Amino acid sequence: MKITEARQVDFNRITDLYYKLYPNRKTAKLTAVRSPIVKSKVLVAKESKRVDGFILATFVSYGKSKFGYIEELIVDEKARGKQIGSKLVKRILSWEKELGAEVVFVITEEAMEFYKKLGFKYTKNYTWLLWTPK
Ligand SMILES: CC(C)(COP(=O)(O)OP(=O)(O)OC[C@H]1O[C@@H](n2cnc3c(N)ncnc32)[C@H](O)[C@@H]1OP(=O)(O)O)[C@@H](O)C(=O)NCCC(=O)NCCS
Repeated sequence: MKITEARQVDFNRITDLYYKLYPNRKTAKLTAVRSPIVKSKVLVAKESKRVDGFILATFVSYGKSKFGYIEELIVDEKARGKQIGSKLVKRILSWEKELGAEVVFVITEEAMEFYKKLGFKYTKNYTWLLWTPK
């Protein structure tokens, strides 16, 4: 058994497996297997030419699932407390919304209150399973 990247010739078999499990599903979802949409964006906050902060986020669209994830957000210590972080998050949330994201996730311990002020909620009601390396 080898694990390899799927190639064009493999898609008929992928289609068979999929419709055996989901005989009533429409084709739209499976076409995304051929070309899942993953986009990422990096925004910076600049004061003249100096970058005081940045945010990196991704957007994933697979069939009906459209969601975003904030990967990184850092504001220089010297520039904190001036709403730079909030502006970066708000701008990235508008981008996610434009693309159709229904939910945007972030993982943080230190900045939970910061994100709560921006409308984020805890995810205890979602059916998340987590994997972390040992
Ligand atoms: C978290 C971080 C991005 C905030 O940036 P910032 O530009 O200072 O934030 P803002 O000025 O927009 O703060 C907005 C509000 O959140 C509050 N806030 C900011 N950071 C906070 C924190 N770590 N904990 C609790 N509240 C916080 C501010 O007091 C402010 O409150 P107010 O609107 O009532 O005055 C910045 O502290 C940082 O880079 N931290 C280190 C990296 C990090 O933790 N990133 C987030 C994980 S992805």
